[in-house]
Amino acid sequence: MYIEQNGMCEVKQSYDALVSLLGYVAANKDVFSDCIDLYSRENAFGVTRTVLRRMVWEESSQAIWLERYIGNVTGARITLSSDSVSQVLRSSIASLAQITAIGLLYDSSYTVFMASLLHMSSEEVSQFIWQTLQSESRHYRFFSEWALRLAKEGGDSVKDLRASLLANWAGAFAWYGPPEDLEMEQLRAAGYMDATPDILRQRLASHIAPVITAMRLRLPLIRRRGNVWDNDLPLDWRLWNTVTRTLMAE
Ligand SMILES: [Fe+2]
Repeated sequence: MYIEQNGMCEVKQSYDALVSLLGYVAANKDVFSDCIDLYSRENAFGVTRTVLRRMVWEESSQAIWLERYIGNVTGARITLSSDSVSQVLRSSIASLAQITAIGLLYDSSYTVFMASLLHMSSEEVSQFIWQTLQSESRHYRFFSEWALRLAKEGGDSVKDLRASLLANWAGAFAWYGPPEDLEMEQLRAAGYMDATPDILRQRLASHIAPVITAMRLRLPLIRRRGNVWDNDLPLDWRLWNTVTRTLMAE
C-alpha cells in the first residue's frame, strides 16, 4: 500500500514538474512572439519582415499548443504566470541585434529542452516536438545568418550583438536549473527527459557553438572534446530563484 501511494505521488510530482516547465516555455514563447511582432511592425525591411512574421505565427502556435496540452494534462484552465517570463523579454527590444541574440540563445535553450523530451511515450507530444524542432531549425538558421552578418558589419552592430549575447547568456544556460534541480530530476526519474541540467547546458553550448565560434566575439564557450562544448560563464547558484527559474541578478 505504501509503495502504491508513493508511486502515485511520484507520478503527480512528475506531472507537476512537466506542467511547470512546459508552462515556462509557453509563457516565454508567447511573449517572444509578441516582441518579434512589435519589432517587425515597427521596422519593416524586406525579406526579414516576412520571415519574422512567419516566426511570430510559429512561436505563438507553439505557445497555444503547450497551453492546451497543459490544460488537458491537468484538467484545469491554465493562466500562464508572468513570473515565468524572462526579464529580458519583458523589457522592450530595440534592435535586430537584440532580437538576434535573444532568438539565438533562448530559442536554442528551449529547443534543447524540448528535444530532451522526445522520449516521452505520448504520440501527441512526440509529433508536436518534431514539428517544433523543424520550425526551430529554420529560426536558428535565420538568427545564425543575421548574427554572422552583424558580426561582419563591425562597429555599433557588433557591439550591440556582443552586449546582447552576454546580457542573455546566463539566463539561457541557467534556466535548466542547478545540477540537482528538483523539477528536472522529477522529469528524468519519470523517464520523460533523457538528461541532467548539466548535460542540457552542454547540449545548448554544442548547439550554438558553430555560429558563436564563427563570429569570433570572445564569448564564454569552451570545447570539452570533439563537438562537445560547454558554457564557460560561472553561474552563481546562490542567486537561483526557483519560481522564476532565473539567477536573480539577471
Ligand atoms: Fe523559435
